[in-house]
Amino acid sequence: MNQAIKKERIYYYEQHKVVDSMSDDVHQGFSATPKKLSPKYFYDQRGSQLFDEITELPEYYPTRTEISLLKKHAGEFSELLGENSILFELGSGSSLKIRILLEALRPSVYVPMDISKAHLIESSQRLAEDYPWLEVHANRVDYSQDWEVPDFGPGRYNAFFPGSSIGNFDPKDACRLLEQVAKLVGNKGGLLIGVDLKKEKSVLEDAYNDSAGVTAQFNLNLLHHINHQMNSEIDPETFSHKAIYNDRVGRIEMHLVSNKEQSIQIEDQTYRFNKGESIHTESSYKYSVEEFHHLVKQAGFDPVKVWTDEQNLFSIHYLQVNK
Ligand code: AVJ
Repeated sequence: MNQAIKKERIYYYEQHKVVDSMSDDVHQGFSATPKKLSPKYFYDQRGSQLFDEITELPEYYPTRTEISLLKKHAGEFSELLGENSILFELGSGSSLKIRILLEALRPSVYVPMDISKAHLIESSQRLAEDYPWLEVHANRVDYSQDWEVPDFGPGRYNAFFPGSSIGNFDPKDACRLLEQVAKLVGNKGGLLIGVDLKKEKSVLEDAYNDSAGVTAQFNLNLLHHINHQMNSEIDPETFSHKAIYNDRVGRIEMHLVSNKEQSIQIEDQTYRFNKGESIHTESSYKYSVEEFHHLVKQAGFDPVKVWTDEQNLFSIHYLQVNK
């Protein structure tokens, strides 16, 4: 089970099972055809900083659209989700969004779950300080591994999964993750989840090809992160950022494309790259409201309500477990 560690102002739990798998993942990804890397390795310190910059870009509409939806409908959320609940947050990178919800809902227990330990503890402690009435139980969780969090006894359970981060998972994995969330909140438990909508290709592609080049830096930083952690010497300058919308499967794909034929040495392995060969670094699936409803039903949720902005850029769904 999880180990509770009392930190300053918060409780902190870590799965025994969380293992550092970068080395295995990188070798596996570079051996695959086509080559790939997991987007979870974007988020070292510099990567998290770059992502914060992305959320402020004029082309990147999701963050600001979701925040305005959260503000606009906060009163309704608190009616639907109820007060004094136990509130989980998946991937708690989003301190502004959770503040809107915490202030509207006033849950008694808040359970942020994230993979980055330093980030998790720091942001949890800041929230506990700003909201003295709130009990904070931070859990370090890697969604790509088995995970569980402690039980908080009887009560109303809700989860919050903002940012369209569900879009990083292929539909099958997304369904599996939603099933785990359903188990977490239990029968009649709720999930408030932000989902990016399908829309015109040019709007989607601009959001991942910003004119300031921040998304390109974010993508290339993955190679810096690997170099730093694995002592490799990949030259990020020999790769270019590419992001395209794949209509057929309904997802943005980010790639790092090798500008030349080259060999890359990682630990005891050598990997060959052709000129123009790409590493697939991220998928970001986009869903119409109907498509997302179809997905969540398979995971055991009933759609209760959905909110979208006037331009139909982004959606927030409230779902309830039906078994
Ligand atoms: C945090 C996964 C929702 O897919 O839009 C932003 C990450 N990647 N720009 C997204 C991201 C490139 C983002 N998510």
